[in-house]
Amino acid sequence: MTRILTRSLLLALAASASLAGADPAARPIPNPAPAHPELRHVLDEFGGEAGLRALMDDFMVILLDDPRMRPFFENSDLERVKDKLALQFCVILGGDCVYDGLDMVESHAGHEIRRADFNALVEDLQIAMERRGIPTRAQNQLLAKLAPMYREVVNR
Ligand code: HEM
Repeated sequence: MTRILTRSLLLALAASASLAGADPAARPIPNPAPAHPELRHVLDEFGGEAGLRALMDDFMVILLDDPRMRPFFENSDLERVKDKLALQFCVILGGDCVYDGLDMVESHAGHEIRRADFNALVEDLQIAMERRGIPTRAQNQLLAKLAPMYREVVNR
């Protein structure tokens, strides 16, 4: 009898555990990128949120002009991507923005992204920042926060 009870208890536990796994509401949403209030001065060097939005306009033109990157972006909602990127960078640099986009795993899952693709995108971002005259040190401070995100973005 005790044996049967133990077995049904185990089965019930297993069932509830698998239910919890299947419930999207129970899945923790990874923070897309931690905020760094200490980098607020770097945000100023980018020209604040408005400067980041202008940077994203240039960045997207450069991405679409790059044969390595164009295939990834040509069918995307570019206005949305620019908007979410600007908000995300603003949050990373300690701004008062609110990121309301998808998490990084989810937003890149539909694309096969390799480490080389990640590096190419960073190169294009550097070109965009250089063209806008962002000081090298400020560029590097942002890039240092983006670099670890390859773990969520690279999926191939
Ligand atoms: C640190 C690096 C990266 C960051 C911070 C980043 C950030 C973002 C953000 C915030 C979005 C918008 C999410 C939303 O729609 O809510 C997005 C979308 C997207 N990203 Fe990235 N991304 C990175 C790297 C890459 C790389 C390396 C590629 C490809 C080479 C890529 C390709 C895309 C594409 C194609 C979309 C649009 C999604 C779609 O329309 O299916 N991203 N990314």
